[in-house]
Amino acid sequence: MSATPANRPLAIVTGASNGIGTEIARQLASRGYDIIGTGRSDSIDTVAERLRAQGATVYPLHADLATYDSVEDLWKQVQEIGRPLDVAVLNVGRSVGGAFATDTDLGDELKLIALNVNAVVHLAKRVVPGMLARGRGRIQKSHLRANSTAQKGQLHRSRVVG
Ligand SMILES: NC(=O)c1ccc[n+]([C@@H]2O[C@H](COP(=O)([O-])OP(=O)(O)OC[C@H]3O[C@@H](n4cnc5c(N)ncnc54)[C@H](OP(=O)(O)O)[C@@H]3O)[C@@H](O)[C@H]2O)c1
Repeated sequence: MSATPANRPLAIVTGASNGIGTEIARQLASRGYDIIGTGRSDSIDTVAERLRAQGATVYPLHADLATYDSVEDLWKQVQEIGRPLDVAVLNVGRSVGGAFATDTDLGDELKLIALNVNAVVHLAKRVVPGMLARGRGRIQKSHLRANSTAQKGQLHRSRVVG
């Protein structure tokens, strides 16, 4: 018997329209998850079609997550779906290349902080209480770690509960 939305787990993947987020969404769908995928561009609709072809129920949401209000609006749309989140992949983010002292623009760096830090903490703040109340849930964050010679990527996964 095939899984239905009533018994399939649900994952949200931010930044699912491109790059690492698309691949994480593909892998989650292949493991039986339904997907809420967010993207700024229309690519999220193309990705959603591919995930549906894998058998997942997909909720593509268009969102620019660089502001407080946009994250709140996204969370409202997630709540309207009316299904509990089993996994939250807080992947959305951007990078700024160049030497901090001489090359990069402060405005770009502040936008990076708004997206890579504020939006991630903000969405986690909304997601975690429901996971705690249900006694299960996992959060994964994609992030870049800076060191003296290069930026090295790491994926951090946290079990909230369960
Ligand atoms: N690439 C690496 O080597 C690497 C390594 C370690 C960690 N990371 C981290 O992993 C994450 C994904 O990296 P990636 O290389 O896959 O990036 P990517 O290919 O540039 O994809 C970024 C995703 O974030 C979305 N996005 C960008 N700005 C947004 C905004 N203001 N509001 C909403 N969505 C926005 C993009 O949506 P649209 O394309 O639809 O605009 C896209 O879905 C980032 O947090 C990055 O820092 C990357």
